[in-house]
This record gives sequence, structure tokens and C-alpha cells, in this order.
Amino acid sequence: MTLAVMALYATGTTRLTGIASWRVKETDRIAAMAAELRKLGAGVVEGDDFIEISPPRVWRAATIETYDDHRMAMCLSLAAFNPLAGARPAQPLRILDPRCVAKTFPDYFEALFDLVRADVDDLPVITIDGPSASGKGTLAAALARRLGWQFLDSGAVYRATALAAHRARVSLDDEPGLAAVAANLDLHFDGTRILLNGEDVATELRQESTGAAASRVSGWPAVRGALHALQLSFRRVPGLVADGRDMGTVVFPLAPLKVFLTASAAERAQRRHKQLISKGIQASIADLRTDIEARDARDQSRVTAPLKAAEDALRLDNSALGIDESVDMCWVGGGSATRWTRVRPAEAPA
Ligand code: C5P
Repeated sequence: MTLAVMALYATGTTRLTGIASWRVKETDRIAAMAAELRKLGAGVVEGDDFIEISPPRVWRAATIETYDDHRMAMCLSLAAFNPLAGARPAQPLRILDPRCVAKTFPDYFEALFDLVRADVDDLPVITIDGPSASGKGTLAAALARRLGWQFLDSGAVYRATALAAHRARVSLDDEPGLAAVAANLDLHFDGTRILLNGEDVATELRQESTGAAASRVSGWPAVRGALHALQLSFRRVPGLVADGRDMGTVVFPLAPLKVFLTASAAERAQRRHKQLISKGIQASIADLRTDIEARDARDQSRVTAPLKAAEDALRLDNSALGIDESVDMCWVGGGSATRWTRVRPAEAPA
């Protein structure tokens, strides 16, 4: 099966014979291979016990079905190297249900990604921006999980900077001091753990006081500049879902899909309240709403990278939606289409 995919890179036609047994494996592998190779632009002739493959004259982007067959996922992944066969521009490849490799090689894709180097500009990015407690973090994390992509919680980066500054007794008014803290941030994300200088600070980062300090820290241009490269470094294979305030406007302005998530301040205060109560932290809804509105005002009015929707973003007001429903809407790209609005109406129908 690997040879069948390598045939895409040959200069002539490749014929594999004596492979009748392929038809009675996890799936009918001759039929499956023929269907998927054709999607990429290859010419394929199949018979009871053979397959003949002529490489694509013009490579096409494709979404590959894997038929719950680990070998289909692993073999077809090699078609992602199409630029080596002259495809210009590189044609993106999407492997559906990549986790089917679990049968024999659970971390196949991680191992593959460790071996390859991709042109960072080719890696897809989805940005999800919005105000505090709009649900963007939950949405972004869920999308990243479903896609198997990297995840950047940029709010946590600002929160960690605020926490590190507090520990180093750097004042929230000391811009150069804060920028130095940001530039030397020893921060690692490891599943649900967030390690600052090796210590898990995930719980501390979620405190309201840390969020409020982060909002002040993030107003300094030198801090934003110092954190820029760190945020860009999250763009790794196979792609990135990034959430924050300026992901679509400043950090990843060329991202092909940008979402701006909003909800009323009243709804966001309710959600934050529920979240805190579930963690045993007491809070008043009125105070939370005042805090959220103050944070919104500060984020929207700052000079550097103010909170606003990118012009090419899709806006979703999820006040009347649960977070799970929002995730489903992004995932299927639909739900009630009327809930999605373009920030700037397209000039011509796309
Ligand atoms: O999203 P979260 O509430 O964790 O963010 C904490 C603070 O960090 C925000 O209030 C905002 O001021 C700041 N922030 C930012 N730019 C980002 C992400 C967060 O200014 N991309």
C-alpha cells in the first residue's frame, strides 16, 4: 500500500500485481486506494488482483477517507509531500479520522511531524477572538482537540506574564520591567497543566485577580512586542487554533478562518459566575459584570492591538447558545446560518 502511494512520485505508471488479498482486509483496500488516489489527481486502473497508478499531471487538494483502516491513514499521509513532486502551490491534504492509526501506531502522526519541516506560512490557522468570558477559550480548545491541531490560549500567556511580574515584584506600571519579564518567560503548556518556571500555575492563572492584572500588563506595547514571537511559535504542524483578543488582527492576520465570538455582558457574567462557583470560589454576579465591562473597555480602548473584530472575521453572538452548541456550529460550519454575520459584508459573492 505504501508503494501505491509512492507511485504518485514516480515518473511513469506503476503496476502492482498479485494483491487480491487487499480486497479482504480492514476494507476493500484496492477500491479504497483507487478512490483516494484519484482524488489527488492520479490516473488509476483497478482489477481483481492489481492496481495501476499514473502520477497526477496536476495535483489536487483532497480530503482523504480512511475507512477505519490504519494503513490507509498512514500511507496516504505521504501524499502531503506533493511539492517534492512539483505541485505548485503545495496542495493541502486532509486525513479524516486520523486516530484510526491507533490500531498499530497510535502516535504515527506525532512521529511524522517530528521528522518533517513545514514552511510555516503553509500551516493553517483558525483564530477565535472575543471579549472576556465569551466562551472563546472553550470553543478554541474543543476545535483544536477535534482537529488534532495545536492550541494557543494567548490569554494564558498574558496571565502568566502578570503572575511572573507579581512574583518578581515588578510593578504593573513599569513597562520596560514587564517587557523584560515577558521576554524571559519560561512557560510551557502540557495538557491541562501550565508550567511557569516548571511549576503548575493553571489554577492561579484562572483567578480573577490574575485576569485583571493581565489586562493591565497587556496594555503595554513593549509587553505585546515581547510576547509576539512566543505566540507565533505555536504555529506548528498540522495547524493551530489560537484564541485571544488580537489573534486575527495582529498575530495571525493572514489566517484563512477568523471567528469573533461575542455574548452580552450579562450572559458572560453569569457564565463566569457558574464557572467560579463550580470551583468553590465565591463571587457576586454584579461584581463580575462590573469587572467584565471594565476589562472590555480597557481592551477596546488601548492603543496597541485593541480588541476588535478583524474585517474578514465571521462574527457569532452566542448569548443564546451553550458553549457545546457553539462548538458544533463551528464544526459543521452551520447551525442556524443566520447567527453568523460577516464583520464587513463581502463586496462580491464568493
Ligand atoms: O482571555 P483572558 O481573559 O485569559 O485574557 C486575560 C487578559 O489578557 C485580557 O483581559 C486581555 O487584556 C489580555 N489579552 C490580550 N490579548 C490577547 C489575549 C489576552 O490583550 N491576545
